[in-house]
Amino acid sequence: MAIIEKRLEKVKNLALGRGFIFAGSEIYGGLANSWDYGPLGAELKNNIKKEWWKFFIQENGGGAVISIGMDGAIFLNPKVWTASGHVGNFSDPLMDCRFCKTRHRADHIAKFEDTNEVMFKHITDKKLPCPNCGKHDWTPIRQFNLMFKTHRGVTEDAGDVIYLRPETAQNQFVNFLNLQRSMRLKIPFAVGQIGKAFRNEITPGNFIFRTLEFEQMEYQIFCKEAESEEFYKIFKNKSMDFYNQRLGINKNKLKFTDHEKLSHYAKMACDMEYEFPFGFAEIGGTHHRGTYDLGNHAKHSGKSLEYLDPVTGEKFPPTVIESSHGADRLLFAVLDDAYSEEKVEDEIRVVLRLKPSLAPYKVAVLPLQKKGLSEKSEEIYRSLCNHFMTTYDDTASIGKRYRRQDEIGTPFCVTVDYDTLNDGCVTIRDRDTMEQQRIKTEDIVRWVLAKL
Ligand code: GAP
Repeated sequence: MAIIEKRLEKVKNLALGRGFIFAGSEIYGGLANSWDYGPLGAELKNNIKKEWWKFFIQENGGGAVISIGMDGAIFLNPKVWTASGHVGNFSDPLMDCRFCKTRHRADHIAKFEDTNEVMFKHITDKKLPCPNCGKHDWTPIRQFNLMFKTHRGVTEDAGDVIYLRPETAQNQFVNFLNLQRSMRLKIPFAVGQIGKAFRNEITPGNFIFRTLEFEQMEYQIFCKEAESEEFYKIFKNKSMDFYNQRLGINKNKLKFTDHEKLSHYAKMACDMEYEFPFGFAEIGGTHHRGTYDLGNHAKHSGKSLEYLDPVTGEKFPPTVIESSHGADRLLFAVLDDAYSEEKVEDEIRVVLRLKPSLAPYKVAVLPLQKKGLSEKSEEIYRSLCNHFMTTYDDTASIGKRYRRQDEIGTPFCVTVDYDTLNDGCVTIRDRDTMEQQRIKTEDIVRWVLAKL
């Protein structure tokens, strides 16, 4: 097996085997592009979201602009999606293989994006085969909308169609004046939220990379047109700070890629890509959305979404710069980047070198032996649970238990031994250096918090 496939398999197996991720509806044979987070995955994802909220909302985008948060509804009035351009433009060019009846993205078959005519001609001229069955027998390319549709109320006629939001950003746009007025803000200011978005993705997902539902962490800066390019540059760089400094992702595995083909709403856009085992792929992006969204919502709703400048008395729709991040892709990137193997005394030690602040468990309490040590160990475990996520393990040898914690990224292990009963001290072991230190039981919390 190629080295990259092996790495992907290893990261995937660890995630699936150690409670990070489960295949969606597994007992029914699964559901393509759908996954559940297990206990450790839920912790890791929560920690990533907490870091995002802290950096973008609490710390005002790393000190760049006054920021507030919100939590909008998944269902919006369907007119929102007409105004935003998603009903008309949010689609993929798809073609069916007549032979095996599978559906594929034409730009993935052609390996470039262009008009449907150009891609179809290229696919036909080169007799490009179906990746599933190898035959060349394609239907013409058709545009398929990516939004999930459902029906509201008791009837199922066209008038009741409602969409699951394909991006979270529209909540910020339709609430622009509510946000600005209720919080008495002057532009520039930013609004962020974390929430689920849904897309009818038909192409294979590469584990959790491309899924039907996912969480976005989106942040919109409302500003004057004259300052918009400066904010675009600032937030492009802030995304690198966030990924590298806050999430601990190796800078060498991150790169910016400017969009050649822009989304229907964007004036300028750039992706942040991470080098997954299958190659560089998008994990987030910075987009200059101009006045596209506020302008269209004003037009379609008939309500002004203009900002009144209190100094000049001028009225205008603010320009929007967007910093958009996918919590699930970031979790995948963080897991992949943290995965490491090293040789220790003739065995391979697997370590998830997660930033301690992201680790699902901060501390594991391990009694050296069950006999005579359980009571003290459980007492320590219970007291640590009041401060941070702590786990307890009293099965197998101490070496095996250290390895288990290394594999799930627990930064500190506290070992309780017979001396603990006399001197009130425990051994604390560091995941990365494997160094051990003796400290007083009552100092554990302070010691760990200082490291976090
Ligand atoms: N509001 C702008 C917007 O939605 P996008 O590039 O389409 O932009 C933003 O999506 C981020 O959402 C992506 O960078 C990615 O991290 C995440 N994302 C998009 N589609 C996804 C999918 N099918 N599965 C998982 N994450 C996805």
